[in-house]
Amino acid sequence: MGSIVIELSGVSAVYEGERTPALHNLSLHVGSGEMVGIVGPNGAGKTTLLEVINGLLPITEGTVQVLEERVGSRSHRLRRRIAYLPQDMFFSPDTPFLARDVVLMGRFAGIGPFRPPRREDHEQTMQALIAVGADELSRRPIGRLSGGQQRKVLLARVIARQPRVLLLDEPLTNIDPEAKEDLSHLILEIHRQLGLTTLFVSHESGPLLAAADRLITVVAGRIIARGMTEPQPVKVQ
Ligand SMILES: Nc1ncnc2c1ncn2[C@@H]1O[C@H](COP(=O)(O)OP(=O)(O)OP(=O)(O)O)[C@@H](O)[C@H]1O
Ligand SMILES: [Mg+2]
Repeated sequence: MGSIVIELSGVSAVYEGERTPALHNLSLHVGSGEMVGIVGPNGAGKTTLLEVINGLLPITEGTVQVLEERVGSRSHRLRRRIAYLPQDMFFSPDTPFLARDVVLMGRFAGIGPFRPPRREDHEQTMQALIAVGADELSRRPIGRLSGGQQRKVLLARVIARQPRVLLLDEPLTNIDPEAKEDLSHLILEIHRQLGLTTLFVSHESGPLLAAADRLITVVAGRIIARGMTEPQPVKVQ
């Protein structure tokens, strides 16, 4: 394991209006180039964990650092380096963007004021679509694509963004078994080829969980197990 890229120390987080913290005194270090899988029952705090790493949810205690910078500092540099694929992110049929627009926008997300796209942005967009095997979809409206096709486009968006850190929340949900295999391999390839540090949430056994360098199990806002192999199923509370 190289240098530490993601570092949480004693982190607690409480959603507005809630009494019980969604994360309790949680500590986690992820090294450069590592791929870590997060498992655990519904409501455990897996999505919350990704959100505090991405600076979307303020923490009430502890510290979160990514690439040696404190998350929450609203640094454009840092936000640009983290790519986040939220859980259940699908586009409705009337979304007024083409697949390539969605990928192109990834190059601008989180970097502040809009600037007109340059040739380089369009080139990176096409290259990313080719890399995920979705170049033929580039001129199709995003909302008219299938769930698996949309996921591929969103992964192209991640590539085009050229991040250092990849956060994926249930990337295989609503995907048919065959496409699941393909997408798992695609995620692995992106992780390895771009030399990313990746944290993903998944409850599905398969190539993605099997390829993780390690797994952590989150239950009720705490990490209850850390290991190299798939943990035993945990009782849903
Ligand atoms: N916006 C919110 N407001 C208040 N409480 C929330 C909010 N989002 C999540 N929570 C609560 O925080 C806890 C952790 O939720 P989280 O979404 O992180 O779980 P999860 O592990 O991702 O679950 P799932 O597997 O269902 O996606 C739960 O108790 C949930 O009810
Ligand atoms: Mg979740």
